[in-house]
Amino acid sequence: MNDKASVKIFAFDPSKDKEPKYRTYEVEEWKGHTVLQVLRQIYENQDAEIAFRSGCDGVGPARCGACVMEVNGSPVLACETPATKEMVIKPHRKFTIIKDLVVDFERKGGSNG
Ligand code: FES
Repeated sequence: MNDKASVKIFAFDPSKDKEPKYRTYEVEEWKGHTVLQVLRQIYENQDAEIAFRSGCDGVGPARCGACVMEVNGSPVLACETPATKEMVIKPHRKFTIIKDLVVDFERKGGSNG
């Protein structure tokens, strides 16, 4: 039985790409991990091109909000959201996309297609 997680990540660089697309990765170590930890694994082991943000890593009572994104259609903080076996990860729809999962918090009106 395949116990790997399937992680589909929104990929878009408005300075180069005409249309957004998705890249899909398989991840072995996901149980008990957060979405942010899974993104880091992908970045470190499979694709150093994906762009995402983090800050406080969910440590401490105040959350920085840097890792806000959408997972399976819901806005979440990736550092405190448990990973699941099937994930579609997009930038937060409220903000303008800078690259992939990185948004401009100063500019509203993004589209994560
Ligand atoms: S990294 Fe700060 S809230 Fe997630």
